[in-house]
Amino acid sequence: MAAGATQADCVLEVGAGTGAITRVLAQRVPVSKLVIIEPNQSWAAGLRAQFPRATVHAAMLHELEHVLQSLPKRTKVVSSLPFRSLPADVLGPTLGVLLPFLQSSPGRELTQFSYQPRPPFRAPEGMRWKLQNVVLANLPPAGVWELHAVGPAGGAISPQTASPAP
Ligand SMILES: C[S@@+](CC[C@H](N)C(=O)[O-])C[C@H]1O[C@@H](n2cnc3c(N)ncnc32)[C@H](O)[C@@H]1O
Repeated sequence: MAAGATQADCVLEVGAGTGAITRVLAQRVPVSKLVIIEPNQSWAAGLRAQFPRATVHAAMLHELEHVLQSLPKRTKVVSSLPFRSLPADVLGPTLGVLLPFLQSSPGRELTQFSYQPRPPFRAPEGMRWKLQNVVLANLPPAGVWELHAVGPAGGAISPQTASPAP
């Protein structure tokens, strides 16, 4: 989940829970580059205590469009959101905020884990899912999926090949 984080100017973790993935991210990137979203108030407080130099927002992703708009072009999104079980009235607004954010710069990609053998949600036009890894040691086994922009020749545009942030 944390692979590729070092090349990003910012790492946005969505649904950080108690911080299992955050702790790995914090070993790879300066904590000041971490922006964390976790709507559970007590978990968010725990994350603030563990990572005082990170920015922690205790809200749902779709309530934070203004925060996403302020993030740099080369932002990697790491998500533990349970897309397949989000209620429709949360899923729609969540994708309505997340997808334009990812599509607005080729340097942005989403890394997402899923317990299901299929992508977390349908990739929008111009983007493609790639199953990056399957973690058999996880119970149940977890797939690590990446959603990224597809280049003109059909290849992925990675944060490394994208233009640097202005
Ligand atoms: C599978 S758990 C995360 C596990 C986490 N990686 C950990 O180590 O604890 C999913 C998390 O997504 C959060 N979540 C659920 N809906 C959300 C939403 N709409 N926006 C942001 N976070 C959400 C939940 O509060 C929960 O902490």
